Amino acid sequence: MFNRIIAINSIEQLNESYYVISVDIGESVKEIRPGQFFELKKPESCYPMLRKPISVYDIQSTKVSFMIKKLGKATEQFAVMKAGDKLDIIGPLGNGFSITEGNKAIIVSGGIGYPPLYYLKTQLEQAGKTIYWLHGGQTSIDIFPADEIWTDDGSAGNKGFVTEGLTNYIKNQKPDVIYACGPKAMLKACHQIAERNSVPLFVSLEEYMACGIGVCYGCAVKVRTDNSIGVTYKTVCKDGPVFEAKDIVWE
Ligand SMILES: Cc1cc2nc3c(=O)[nH]c(=O)nc-3n(C[C@H](O)[C@H](O)[C@H](O)COP(=O)(O)OP(=O)(O)OC[C@H]3O[C@@H](n4cnc5c(N)ncnc54)[C@H](O)[C@@H]3O)c2cc1C
Ligand code: FES
Repeated sequence: MFNRIIAINSIEQLNESYYVISVDIGESVKEIRPGQFFELKKPESCYPMLRKPISVYDIQSTKVSFMIKKLGKATEQFAVMKAGDKLDIIGPLGNGFSITEGNKAIIVSGGIGYPPLYYLKTQLEQAGKTIYWLHGGQTSIDIFPADEIWTDDGSAGNKGFVTEGLTNYIKNQKPDVIYACGPKAMLKACHQIAERNSVPLFVSLEEYMACGIGVCYGCAVKVRTDNSIGVTYKTVCKDGPVFEAKDIVWE
């Protein structure tokens, strides 16, 4: 576990909303599994007090990078930092994806669901798997390289929801497994499509987090279990963020 205040190696603006921060964490990169995340904080900042969960986007040598969308206070603070500025980081955290299922995988991302799946893709490729990636966003600003692009407003790729692309693709090609990350409504729709087609689906949930260490239950998600009431709660920060979609109670 890497838990230190370190200097930012580089920061690159991708467009007006997205940027990539890279830090050198030495040999700790070897611990990272795709789908895991780090908790980030600007060291001297009193507000926001809590660290922010950010997925591992890529690893090059001993450098780990994070792709971040400006959304609120913390992600705006990180965006104006420069190489050499200090960042408080803890990780890797969470369970991450297993990459053992089958040979043909579909990846479905929505908006800021892109980064954890990018690193997953590099690992699937290294393991010799065939991958087809569908990525969707609200507008062209949310779009990054993938095999098939969807935008809500039609400003890039196909107009509509990325789940329409998933439905079409599955009609002709049955994958062994689907991996998805994005807004809850998109994940729920992916679950319904995966169930109809009997394909296992693993989702990474990006719930709003508070403590980030499994204590406050602020990120609780309802899952099926074999206890007397049939359901229980798990935490996205500690038990997740990756769950098999069939185990989640989609509400
Ligand atoms: C496991 C995990 C991995 C993540 N990986 C990434 C990543 O790689 N890149 C990235 O940019 N973001 C990622 N996020 C989301 C990021 O942690 C949040 O968006 C973060 O709260 C932003 O902090 P902020 O202070 O800028 O905005 P906040 O002030 O925290 O939020 C601004 C607004 O967005 C809403 N909001 C914030 N987070 C969420 C959320 N998760 N779901 C719904 N609404 C929300 C808030 O209610 C508020 O209205 C991840 C989240 C999780 C749980
Ligand atoms: S954020 Fe507190 S338990 Fe997950």
